[in-house]
This record gives sequence, C-alpha cells and structure tokens, in this order.
Amino acid sequence: MAYTMGGLFIKMISTSIKGFDSELGGGIPPGSIILISGTPGTFKSSLAFSIIHNAAKKEGHSSLYRLLEQSQKSLLGQMDKMGWPMDDAVRKNIIVSDVGRIRAAMEKFSTENDWLSALKTYVEYLVGERRAKHLVIDSLPVMEILAGSPNKREYLFGLFEWLRSLGTTTFLISEKSSQNVDYAEEEFLADGVFQLTLTPIGDVDLQRRIRCIKLRGMAHNTSMFALELKSGKFRVAPAI
Ligand SMILES: Nc1ncnc2c1ncn2[C@@H]1O[C@H](COP(=O)(O)OP(=O)(O)O)[C@@H](O)[C@H]1O
Ligand SMILES: [Mg+2]
Repeated sequence: MAYTMGGLFIKMISTSIKGFDSELGGGIPPGSIILISGTPGTFKSSLAFSIIHNAAKKEGHSSLYRLLEQSQKSLLGQMDKMGWPMDDAVRKNIIVSDVGRIRAAMEKFSTENDWLSALKTYVEYLVGERRAKHLVIDSLPVMEILAGSPNKREYLFGLFEWLRSLGTTTFLISEKSSQNVDYAEEEFLADGVFQLTLTPIGDVDLQRRIRCIKLRGMAHNTSMFALELKSGKFRVAPAI
C-alpha cells in the first residue's frame, strides 16, 4: 500500500499478516525501528522472518537477519518447516548471520577489538554492499549481553542512534513483554511496538495474539487480534 506523506509518495512495508496492514493504517513506514516483543514461543522470530521473506518475494527487497540466539542452520530449518523456504527468489535477498559467522567475518575485515563496534562495522558494510532495506536483530537482550555494556541506558541510546543512521527498516526482537512490567526503555525509543502473546482460553487452550501498541506517524488500531498461521501465511482474526 502506498501513502503520501509531506508531499512524498511512500510505499509502506507489509507486515505479511493478512488483514493487519489495514489495521495499522496501511503498513509499516519504511525506516521505522519496530520492537517485536513477547514471551518465548510467541512467533517473534517467525514474524520477523515472514516480513523479510515476503519483502524479498513480492518487492525484491534485500534484508539482513542478525541471529544471535540460535544457529543459521537451525533458524532456516525451522522457517522452511513453517512455510518460508529459501528458494531461488529469496536466497539472494536474505542474509542470515549467526554469532559464528559474524565472528568469522569480523576477524577478517575489522580491526575493532570490541564486539559492538566490530558488529556495527560489519552491518554497515553489508547494508552498503548488499543495499539491504531491512534489518532484523534477534534478539536485543542477547545483543546487550554480547555488547557487555555496563550502562544500559547509554548503550540503548547509542544503539538506536546508530540504527537510525543506517536508514533500514529495523525489527528488534525483545524477550520482554509489556503485559506485566513497566514499559521498558526500548519501547520509548522504538517507532513501533508489536506485542505478541499466548493467551489462556479457559483451562486448556491458548490463543496466539498480536497487537500494535505504538506506531509513530500512523493512526493505527490498538486492539488485540488472534494471530493464525496456515501454510506459511499469517492472518489476523477477531480475538475471542
Ligand atoms: N511448523 C510449524 N507450524 C506452526 N507453528 C510451529 C511450527 N513449528 C513450530 N511452531 C511453533 O512456533 C513456536 C516458535 O516460534 P518462534 O517464532 O521461534 O518463537 P519466538 O521467536 O517468539 O520464541 C514454537 O514454540 C511452536 O509453537
Ligand atoms: Mg525467537
């Protein structure tokens, strides 16, 4: 979907979830930093991958997926089973780097000795070289551990400032759920927050849900929707 903003014609990034883009007012404004937040197993990694898979297939967009929590092989195997294979149309547009790959690349061409600076240099190189439009960081808490920064506030400000300078649409995966904790700093800093939940229905069932609690520049719906996945396609339905 395309929108006119300040006289400019802007094409929104699709969430790849059927029925959800229109609830956001058209989709995600390109260049936004979006936090995907939820407890384990709520489809955070799956949603981020589905977004870049869809962007590669439909728009030919390139993306970088910085994977810090599991191996590249394990993620791609999981995503293939869920309905997002790395077929020819996608392979050239998605670069997935796990910690091992990031370390190897860093040793090769970076003289920086701290992990975060080296990672930044590497991402900047790939964004420039591969013209990546989207970036996924999976996950923010693990990145924080690897960065080993003693001052969380300073580190987060620096990180967001750097992400903005990249100009990519960025998806930051956060293990924090804003359901029962005070709003975390990253939620203030991000342009958008998608919250994913597994909500008990009666005594036996759980329903997967999604809501957009923030999206700068868009008159979005904040309602909770049921999130369904069938043959590699996400869709929203009214929450029961
Ligand atoms: N083939 C599949 N189809 C649908 N759901 C699946 C499939 N394989 C795993 N799952 C579900 O996906 C969940 C993991 O999704 P993931 O995106 O990795 O979650 P998160 O990143 O939030 O921890 C699993 O806990 C499981 O419930
Ligand atoms: Mg995950």
